[in-house]
Amino acid sequence: MSQKAIKSFKQLDKDDFRILEAIEQGMRSHEHVPVKIISIISGFPEDEVIFRLDKLHQLELVIRWIGGYIGFELNSNGHDSLALNALVRANTIEAIGMPIGVGKESDVYEALTPEKRSVAIKFHRLGRISFRQTRRLRSYTAGRKHLSWLQESQIAARREYVALKRIHPVISSVPEPIGQNRHCVAMELIEGEELSNILEIEEPTVILTKIIEIMKTIYHSCGIIHADLSEFNILITPEYNTIIIDWPQWVNQTHPNAEMLLKRDVHNVLTFFKKRFGISEFLISVINYLKEN
Ligand SMILES: Nc1ncnc2c1ncn2[C@@H]1O[C@H](COP(=O)(O)OP(=O)(O)OP(=O)(O)O)[C@@H](O)[C@H]1O
Ligand SMILES: [Mg+2]
Repeated sequence: MSQKAIKSFKQLDKDDFRILEAIEQGMRSHEHVPVKIISIISGFPEDEVIFRLDKLHQLELVIRWIGGYIGFELNSNGHDSLALNALVRANTIEAIGMPIGVGKESDVYEALTPEKRSVAIKFHRLGRISFRQTRRLRSYTAGRKHLSWLQESQIAARREYVALKRIHPVISSVPEPIGQNRHCVAMELIEGEELSNILEIEEPTVILTKIIEIMKTIYHSCGIIHADLSEFNILITPEYNTIIIDWPQWVNQTHPNAEMLLKRDVHNVLTFFKKRFGISEFLISVINYLKEN
């Protein structure tokens, strides 16, 4: 979501959202939703719809298509606005703030809850990296053909939320889940630095041990493997707490590739600690320790 999209969001009233929702609904059966259909779904007369569509078009939330008829579809700003509005209506957040992180497949923003607590909002954006790579990384949508970026992003957001819901009550080393809608997840804002950015640390062995202990707890008490773990998905807080983020690719312990994915996670972490801090641990001993009860 760009700064421009945030500005646009603030200019929308409840009837504008009704039009956006009508387009979203219409897009299930139309690539370009005709004005007439938007009017029927929203319950607004056509002239009112045209007036509001002009505004939404100017705010760059919809795409206007001119062919045999005039049709509309939502762009990513339009989808972002609907997700944000739903989170606002659910009293999950009150306002959206500044960007705090851009990942390969997401934009993360700061937001404020009605209780004035700062939280993080992650907009999943699958399909931003190459098709081949996303297929390789995202086994959970493999086999489902022709999913749009939006459908894939919604699946990712739901999966991430489910993982956080399962893990956080057991161990607070993941962000607390706060809400989820469409392709967005609202979660605890972690004040911390990505491990990959930390060049020096007093006791790296302590941090490594913490990470292994967290993985072990999550493996045994939740039956979950991260499956995309690396120094980029571990945040270190100023108090040296270790928080593991970015969960959409998690798998259950019973997943056919569980063993391989667990090994890969541990391998990534050990390789980083060896390169950056010169700590050597045997992969196999760490895996065995992690798996024993
Ligand atoms: N709860 C959070 N609190 C603070 N910062 C966060 C939080 N979640 C994410 N971030 C920041 O946003 C960045 C991107 O988030 P995340 O790693 O979850 O997604 P991603 O990197 O896009 O996913 P992928 O690894 O698939 O590319 C993180 O590296 C981190 O800096
Ligand atoms: Mg990440």
